Amino acid sequence: MDKKTINIGLMGLGNVGAGTYKTLEMNFDSILANTGIDFKITKILVKDLEKQRDINVPKDLLTQNPDDLVSDPNIDIIAELLGGIEPATDYMLKAMQNGKHVVTANKAAVAANFEVLRNAAEQNKVMFRYEASVAGGIPILNALTTALQANQFEEVLGILNGTTNYILTQMTDFGLNYADVLRIAQEKGFAEADPTDDVEGFDAANKLSILISLVFGKRVKPDEIPTEGITKITKEDIERATQTGHKVKLIASAKLENGKLNYSVKPTLLPLTHPLAGVSNEFNAVFVKGNAVGELMFYGKGAGPLPTGSAVMGDIIEIGKAIAKGASYDIKVAGGSK
Ligand SMILES: NC(=O)c1ccc[n+]([C@@H]2O[C@H](COP(=O)([O-])OP(=O)(O)OC[C@H]3O[C@@H](n4cnc5c(N)ncnc54)[C@H](OP(=O)(O)O)[C@@H]3O)[C@@H](O)[C@H]2O)c1
Repeated sequence: MDKKTINIGLMGLGNVGAGTYKTLEMNFDSILANTGIDFKITKILVKDLEKQRDINVPKDLLTQNPDDLVSDPNIDIIAELLGGIEPATDYMLKAMQNGKHVVTANKAAVAANFEVLRNAAEQNKVMFRYEASVAGGIPILNALTTALQANQFEEVLGILNGTTNYILTQMTDFGLNYADVLRIAQEKGFAEADPTDDVEGFDAANKLSILISLVFGKRVKPDEIPTEGITKITKEDIERATQTGHKVKLIASAKLENGKLNYSVKPTLLPLTHPLAGVSNEFNAVFVKGNAVGELMFYGKGAGPLPTGSAVMGDIIEIGKAIAKGASYDIKVAGGSK
């Protein structure tokens, strides 16, 4: 097989940026053997050039100037792994305008600017993929838009946030209260110093907004989703649930009922027999019901450098393979398209 080189501009070298870099580094030979493509990270955008990092990266790859990536004619794919709605969306749009394909893990930016980003990709004839933005390492968007595309869906339910699932699991298993588990989760790196987005359910609402777009073809913005987090759940609530054979889980759900789509993110009592009741700690799961396939559940790590890096590299490789085939823009390989 002839070898082709695809150059990648990485925006961000935090948890996910470093996980993406490591995934490519550790599996470079097998990726090259399987695809015939030499994927090269040629520039990395960071905020702080002098920061001490756990990862060893050639210093000359680092830059603080986004134009070094979005305007570099040699870069084929931009992987946006910065976080936050802006400037991430602006950088992705500029990259697309300059003919670059874009991959992102940024659910906040995708959920807030879904049509803008999708339309920009279409107008500029570039591919836009965002598998890592929903449930990290779980390939749910790819599954929905490829293997499951013959279905109509009635329901999607998810445990989409590892931090809150970890906290609820620990409260259940050890009879602890919310504040103590949050502190332990922060010490172990399962919760951010400012956990608001996770514990108030906003992160799960971003992911549900993206899932609704793909599963039901309907645009519901995150702030239109009734959202309640887990901060008011007490030890006593959990004890009562346990006594009646239930688990409390933060469930993101969207369901078609009599032709109307109902959706929410809220703490929910699940009977122990429900497939999502057994999803513990930092794990995520997505449960879907399709009219042909029936019930399906996807389970795995919804966050973390390598699981998320796996999803980001998966998108990069799909785009690389399409470029290598000489495919001009094709919505079918654009990922997350329906
Ligand atoms: N963490 C996860 O497990 C996970 C899972 C799924 C999806 N995601 C999503 O992935 C994205 C990245 O998350 P993360 O956890 O990797 O974040 P992070 O650890 O905070 O890393 C962010 C990186 O982006 C750089 N950065 C941020 N703003 C910048 C700016 N304006 N200009 C230049 N560089 C900038 C930072 O530079 P410095 O290093 O110099 O500070 C850092 O390297 C987010 O959208 C998040 O929602 C994360």
